[in-house]
Amino acid sequence: MKILVTGGAGYIGSHTCVALIQAGFTPVIADNFSNSHPLAISRIEAITGTRPESHNCDIADPDAMREILQSHKFAAAIHFAGVKAVGRSVSEPLETYRENVAGSLSLLQSLKAGGITRLIFSSSATVYGGAEQMPIPENAQVQPTNPYGHSKAMVEQILQDLAAAEPDWGIGVLRYFNPVGAHKSGEIGEDPQGIPDNLFPYVSQVAVGRREKLQVFGDDYETPDGTGVRDYIHVMDLAEGHVAALKTCLQSDGLFAVNLGTGQGSSVLEIIKAFEATSGRSVPYEITDRRPGDVGTSYADPAKAREMIGFEAKRDLTQMCRDAWNWQQRNPTGYSNQ
Ligand SMILES: NC(=O)c1ccc[n+]([C@@H]2O[C@H](COP(=O)([O-])OP(=O)(O)OC[C@H]3O[C@@H](n4cnc5c(N)ncnc54)[C@H](O)[C@@H]3O)[C@@H](O)[C@H]2O)c1
Repeated sequence: MKILVTGGAGYIGSHTCVALIQAGFTPVIADNFSNSHPLAISRIEAITGTRPESHNCDIADPDAMREILQSHKFAAAIHFAGVKAVGRSVSEPLETYRENVAGSLSLLQSLKAGGITRLIFSSSATVYGGAEQMPIPENAQVQPTNPYGHSKAMVEQILQDLAAAEPDWGIGVLRYFNPVGAHKSGEIGEDPQGIPDNLFPYVSQVAVGRREKLQVFGDDYETPDGTGVRDYIHVMDLAEGHVAALKTCLQSDGLFAVNLGTGQGSSVLEIIKAFEATSGRSVPYEITDRRPGDVGTSYADPAKAREMIGFEAKRDLTQMCRDAWNWQQRNPTGYSNQ
C-alpha cells in the first residue's frame, strides 16, 4: 500500500518512513529539503533495506504534486511538511502562515484532485496554549499563544470543515507533545539548522562540546523544581503512532484528533540530569529569564489515543537520552560534512 509522505526527509518524517516500511507500507516522499538533507533517504535505506522513492518538490506546487499523484495509486497521505520554529513564527508570521496554512490548503486541493481522501496531519500540543487542565485531554480548549500554534489550529479547522462537507474523507489529526531521541541505530535523528529551538538537541550539542552551555528559560514556574515541565515522547514511539493512526484512518470516515504523548511530565533539570547520566558528560547550564509565550507545565492525557488507535508510548526517558546521544556522537555535525 503506497503512502505519500510530505516532509518525509525531515526529523519525524524519516522515522515514520522507517516505521511504515517495517509495517509493510511503501512510503513515497515529497520534500523540498528546505529543512532536511537528502542523506536521510539513504539512511532510511540503511536501516530498512528499502530505499523510499523521493521527489524534490514543494507541496504548494500543484503541477509537481499532480505529477506524483498521477504516477502512483496512493492509499493515503501523511502530511509533515511545514515550518516549526515558534520564535520565527512570531517575527515572520506571514512566512509561517504561507508555509503551514497556504501550503496545506494547496496540498489538500492536489490530494482531492488526485482522488486521495485519507490523510494524517501533523498538529501540535501548541494548539492548547496555556491549558489549565493537566493532563491535557483532546477536548481542552484550542487557544494557541503564537502564530505557529495558530497555523496548526487553522489547518485543523480546515480539515474539520472538509470532513463535515465531504464524508468520504478519513482524517487523523495528531497533536504531538515533545518528540525527542532518534532511531536506535544512530543513522537518523534530529538535525536542526543553526541554534536549536528545542531542549534535547541543545543539551546534546552542549554534551558533545559543540556549544558551551545551555540556557534554562526560567526557574520560577509552579513546578517541583521551578523549571518548565514537558511531555517528551521518543520519536520512534511517535512514528509508530502514525502507523496506528494510519490503520485507523484507512478504515474509518470522518475526523479524529488524538494526543501523542506519554502522559508523563519531566522538568528541564530532570532532562539535564538524565542526559548527564546517560552520556557521562556534564551539561553546564545557566538560568535566564522566562521565554515569552512559554507555559510552565504541559503533558498529555494519552487515554484517547489508546482507545481510538490502540497507541501507547513504550520507550522511557533513559532510551530517549541514550538514542539522542548515540545519534549525536555518530553525527556530531548532523547530516552535513559526511
Ligand atoms: N518536532 C517537533 O517538536 C514537532 C512538534 C509538534 C508538531 N510538529 C510538526 O510535525 C511536522 C514535522 O516536524 P519535524 O520536526 O519533522 O520538522 P522538519 O523540519 O524536520 O521536517 C519538515 C520537513 O518538511 C520539509 N518541507 C518544509 N516545507 C516544505 C514544502 N513547502 N514542501 C515540501 N517539503 C517541505 C522540510 O524540508 C523537512 O524535511 C511539522 O509539521 C511540525 O510542525 C513537530
